[in-house]
Amino acid sequence: PPATGYLHGMPETPETSQPELFTWEFAADPYPAYAWLREHSPVHRTTLPSGVDAWLVTRYADARQALADSRLSKNPTHHGRSSGRTGIPGERQADLMTHLLNIDPPDHTRLRRLVSKAFTPRGVAEFEPRVRQLTERLIDGFAERGSADLIHEFAFPLPIYAICDLLGVPPEDQDDFRDWAGMMIRHAKPGQSGGPRGGVARAVKKMRAYLLELIHRKRADLGDDLISGLIRASDHGEHLTENEAAAMAFILLFAGFETTVNLIGNGTFALLRNPGQRELLQASVARGETGLLTTAVEELLRYDGPVELATWRFATHPLTIGGVDIPVGDPVLVVLAAADRDPARFARENTLDLARKDNPHLGFGHGIHYCIGAPLARLEGQAALGALLTRLPDLRLDAEPEDLRWRGGLIMRGLRELPVAFTP
Ligand code: HEM
Repeated sequence: PPATGYLHGMPETPETSQPELFTWEFAADPYPAYAWLREHSPVHRTTLPSGVDAWLVTRYADARQALADSRLSKNPTHHGRSSGRTGIPGERQADLMTHLLNIDPPDHTRLRRLVSKAFTPRGVAEFEPRVRQLTERLIDGFAERGSADLIHEFAFPLPIYAICDLLGVPPEDQDDFRDWAGMMIRHAKPGQSGGPRGGVARAVKKMRAYLLELIHRKRADLGDDLISGLIRASDHGEHLTENEAAAMAFILLFAGFETTVNLIGNGTFALLRNPGQRELLQASVARGETGLLTTAVEELLRYDGPVELATWRFATHPLTIGGVDIPVGDPVLVVLAAADRDPARFARENTLDLARKDNPHLGFGHGIHYCIGAPLARLEGQAALGALLTRLPDLRLDAEPEDLRWRGGLIMRGLRELPVAFTP
């Protein structure tokens, strides 16, 4: 079969022609293409811009099932059609590879249990005042000016500083993390996952060296931060090596920053483009309520979530998804953004409804790799949107929506910039 457009078991002549994937236009608005795929080729074989062939799973029921299928491994060595290289960031930094998103049980179970001991929902909840203080401080930085780029001045620094604080990175070192993180997300092209080339590789290397050194220091002087928690958890029977602890800290940073940047960026953009919904939320926040803010963050994750495609999975056994046979060794990409707009699961799938009740979105994944940072992401999302609507009540977009540039990475979906204006 041809590498692209292989319509397995689907009608020969679809009503409309197959949309092009991974162009800049697609990056700006992939939803029409995903609607086409869901309908005409729900489990779709395609060639990614990196040259790797992969299956895209776009229907909600298939996506949910695939995310929980133990025959789909997260370990890239199960990739059968190439050297096993996928372009996953950090891949060539072998020591950072043993992190949760690249391993299967039983190693995954052991590491996840250890990190869960240190990274508890209760610990995150106690962190709430600090997140609020951070959001206020960042807004103070531009509130007098009447305009800002919300990505660079707000959405980007907030999660970096938050995670650095949680991990126990001293304040004087946090701007280094901001720089390294910036280098790691800057270079993505449509359909690529920003692999560790050039500046990215250097940033990953510096981060790793720093984390190893910090872990070493903390070992001698344990505190109440997350890195100390990881070290301590390893001291109670189970063992976490320094490399594993560094990989864990790295994945918490890596998985936790660009995602949260995009939750705040995509979320604010969606609110600005849906004035009726924004007004409802703003009025609710002004009354001091939290109920609508809570469902709003879930709906924003569903409607235009940060993670467009779940991270790589590889078939270790022959399996069938949505009636399509997947050969052993083939990469499978679950398209969360397509599944979360599946009309078979979500009524008025293309409508932003901040009060939506029945909303089991897949924005945080599903199954054993379900996002371990979800409580922190929710806290940051609610704090950020609540603070923006309170402090800048007449916040408005300062650009034509179609002029905004999207990053266009393979896994993540997010804006490069979000220019806004407001009364100082
Ligand atoms: C896993 C989304 C924030 C840490 C995941 C997965 C998704 C996701 C979809 C599963 C990927 C897969 O199965 O292939 C998000 C979104 C976030 C967010 C949308 C923000 C809105 C965070 C934060 C942290 C974090 C703040 C930590 C500080 C992780 C980790 C995993 C993960 C460590 C791997 C868990 C495992 O494999 O067991 N996230 N995430 N995430 N996330 Fe998040």
